[in-house]
Amino acid sequence: MVTMLDVKNLKVMFHSKQAEMVAVDEVSFSVRAGETVALIGESGSGKSVTSQAIMGLLPDNGRIAGGEVSFLNQNLVKLSEKEMRRIRGMKISMIFQDATVSLNPTMKIGKQIVEGLHYHQLFPKKESKGEALRLLSIVGFENPSDIYHQYPGELSGGMKQRALIAMAISCEPQLVIADEPTTALDVTIQKQILDLMDDYKRRTETSILLITHDFGLVSEYADRVLVMYEGKIVEAADVFTLFRNPVHPYTKGLMNSIPRIEDPRVMLQTVRDMAVQEGTFEGRVFAPEVFSKDGVTYHAPSALIEVEKGHFVRFFTNKMEVSRT
Ligand SMILES: Nc1ncnc2c1ncn2[C@@H]1O[C@H](COP(=O)(O)OP(=O)(O)OP(=O)(O)O)[C@@H](O)[C@H]1O
Ligand SMILES: [Mg+2]
Repeated sequence: MVTMLDVKNLKVMFHSKQAEMVAVDEVSFSVRAGETVALIGESGSGKSVTSQAIMGLLPDNGRIAGGEVSFLNQNLVKLSEKEMRRIRGMKISMIFQDATVSLNPTMKIGKQIVEGLHYHQLFPKKESKGEALRLLSIVGFENPSDIYHQYPGELSGGMKQRALIAMAISCEPQLVIADEPTTALDVTIQKQILDLMDDYKRRTETSILLITHDFGLVSEYADRVLVMYEGKIVEAADVFTLFRNPVHPYTKGLMNSIPRIEDPRVMLQTVRDMAVQEGTFEGRVFAPEVFSKDGVTYHAPSALIEVEKGHFVRFFTNKMEVSRT
């Protein structure tokens, strides 16, 4: 299968006053054509920064300090802003959590879609209204011509998010990066939107990088999962393998914090609780068991190690230090 996106050893740093901090630390992963890869992790783990780096949209105080972002074998890190602009919205589009900031409040929905189509010169001007209406109906509006003439402020949160998806798919991108696309929405609408994206993906072989902190969504929509913690990928596997056999304590912690509908009285276990249980690391570094493979015992923070076919885990083992104290 074609590799759409191939991220290799991506490192992103931010500087503030004197200090520099590493937000994304040697992250490597790939997304194949037609695949949905989920990037999951707690707040601050580096998910959004990873996607901003891929899109060439880092804030001014951030920089790519190393690595490659290959999109169909072209290294995006080396492109100029002008070349990147052609890729963004043409080949890769992004859907953000908050549609309110991504839509222009002073412009009617239809006009915003049409402008996007014009910008990329995908349709002759006189056909673009028809195309905008078609896109609005694809994303589930039964009355596209009404929506066409409305301002974002006249739409509900779920409707705005649909409009945003219409814009994101208007150029028939090969990769959609969706950063918490439904977090602000209620559960029913959330499911509608994700089903819509999933259905579109299946019909068009589009790849999706789905950023979320919700393992419930991952189980339903992702093919593969990358678990991110403090700027590093700590576990990666296909979704079935990961749910059958999560290895990293951080992954287990995230999974245990999925609300259980059957038994809402049970206190939700948080990732922090898990950290405390697993050792005396107070959530900073998780330490699973010392890991041995092929006669080698890993103590130090390891590279990602393949523990079973296609299932990679990073072992942080501070046990030796702990036993000394
Ligand atoms: N503009 C910035 N300047 C300095 N540090 C930043 C900046 N943007 C992000 N960071 C830092 O980079 C790290 C990763 O942030 P990021 O936004 O990627 O987290 P996230 O995983 O997307 O979290 P969330 O789930 O809350 O969206 C955090 O420590 C954050 O404070
Ligand atoms: Mg984020």
